[in-house]
Amino acid sequence: MTLKPVESVIELLSQHGNSQYGGEAVTQAEHALQSGLIARKKGYPPTLIAACLVHDIGHLLHHLPDDAPDQGIDDFHEELGAGWLGQNFLPETVEPVRLHVAAKRYLCSKEQGYLEGLSGPSLLSLELQGGPMSVSEMTDFENNPYFESAIALRRIDEEAKIPGLATPSPSDFKMELAASLKSKV
Ligand SMILES: [Fe+2]
Repeated sequence: MTLKPVESVIELLSQHGNSQYGGEAVTQAEHALQSGLIARKKGYPPTLIAACLVHDIGHLLHHLPDDAPDQGIDDFHEELGAGWLGQNFLPETVEPVRLHVAAKRYLCSKEQGYLEGLSGPSLLSLELQGGPMSVSEMTDFENNPYFESAIALRRIDEEAKIPGLATPSPSDFKMELAASLKSKV
């Protein structure tokens, strides 16, 4: 089995993950590792644990500043990340990553209090990402086969911002990442 894509993910998180997570109190790597850990604790399948771990990897693939949203710039990290991951990883991992911003827009329309509970940076990026979904956008989204897993990922995304929480290292997720590869030979 070629583990090169798995190693690339681990390297990105290890080498470039110490940048600030868009104005939050944790770094990109802390946010990613907390996301993977929470998904594990919830007993999610390996492909979704891997999705949680890598959902923001798009932020590590560009050279825009950490405070891009403050400057009115949407980095489209969900598409960037999904495009990069899609070369080697299964849709069960890639699609929730692609949809995690849509899931935020959906929950802002669907659930009372969700929008009010967003952090400042998340609220700021929401504006750039199109704001809460319209009714027809919500219906389309609910019909997406990866709707449930995108919502599950999004809820973990909101949770995984705990300053100082102890987490495993990126390489500790090797097994889940390997299980999420398209090619296992
Ligand atoms: Fe995130």
